[in-house]
Amino acid sequence: MSAFKDNLLAGKTAFIAGGTSGINLGIAKRYAELGAKVAVAGRNPEKASNAAAEIGSEALGLSCDVRDYAATRAALEEAAGKFGPLDIVVSGAAGNFVAPALAMSANGFRTVVDIDLNGTFNVFRGCRDLLRTPGAALIAITAGQAVKPAMLQAHVCAAKAGINQLIRVLAMEWGPSGVRVNGISPGPIAGTEGMARLSPTEASTRALAARIPLRRYGEISEVAESAVFLVSDSARYVTGTILDCDGGSQLGDARDPLGEQGLQPG
Ligand code: NAP
Ligand code: COA
Repeated sequence: MSAFKDNLLAGKTAFIAGGTSGINLGIAKRYAELGAKVAVAGRNPEKASNAAAEIGSEALGLSCDVRDYAATRAALEEAAGKFGPLDIVVSGAAGNFVAPALAMSANGFRTVVDIDLNGTFNVFRGCRDLLRTPGAALIAITAGQAVKPAMLQAHVCAAKAGINQLIRVLAMEWGPSGVRVNGISPGPIAGTEGMARLSPTEASTRALAARIPLRRYGEISEVAESAVFLVSDSARYVTGTILDCDGGSQLGDARDPLGEQGLQPG
């Protein structure tokens, strides 16, 4: 169920870095459903063209590694060349693996920071002069690890915390030109590569869901709705914010603190 009208994004163009699978592909599909012309980019060209075919006949599937500024810029230029000035840019490419800091080589740590944080800088810096202004809306996909430290996630915690500050700085620097910069922080989302890595068993999934205030994983479509809101006219005075689409996960562990015998809080 969506509150948004079918033609909400008609006439708009969108570029989604990391839009070839998972949550970001869900966002890309939703933007296309609402009438936007959509380009998605990832490293694997075949995955990118399959994703574009899934999104629709007008979609563009591009290949670039967001760690490489020149390649990222070339993909952004190709999208703007085909569709015209960009109204929406989403930076969602990310890498993750589970390891204690002492099992992470310097290159392992750097790799995740490079994809998530430097990649977001590259996408946003690279798109700036291709945006339609005033009115363009940028979204970085961050995560709860930016705010809440998580063991086995030193690289992601550092990278996503950096993304949160980058969002705020760019919102200040680019606000005067009418460019809004926001973030979405998804909670655990069902059926994604991210959660397959972070919570690989049924038992760990059940245990994690039991700690979430809304008592379940989120759906890709729920993150996509947040991504529609942030680029819509309804959010025209919203910039520099991070929307937690996470069932309350960031608030903390919502199991009954008194256990089975305890009070029933709600
Ligand atoms: P996913 O399916 O693995 O998607 C990652 C995307 O990024 C793919 O399109 C991938 O395509 C691309 N990518 C990876 N490295 C890249 C690089 N160096 N250059 C360009 N593209 C690259 O992941 P997901 O689980 O849906 O997560 C999507 C986003 O949500 C991430 O930012 C993640 O941190 C965030 N998030 C996810 C969850 C969750 O529950 N899954 C929770 C909180 C936040 P290629 O492999 O072809 O490059
Ligand atoms: N534990 C410890 N170190 C690991 C690791 C793990 N599970 N997985 C990878 N690394 C290390 C590698 O050993 C390497 O370090 P080294 O050169 O010192 O040995 C470094 O990380 C880079 O690995 P590499 O495989 O060369 O990187 P890549 O650029 O090909 O892939 C990853 C990047 C590692 C993040 C890969 O998992 C990926 O492509 N992920 C994208 C999908 C994803 O993570 N989705 C979830 C998003 S939330």
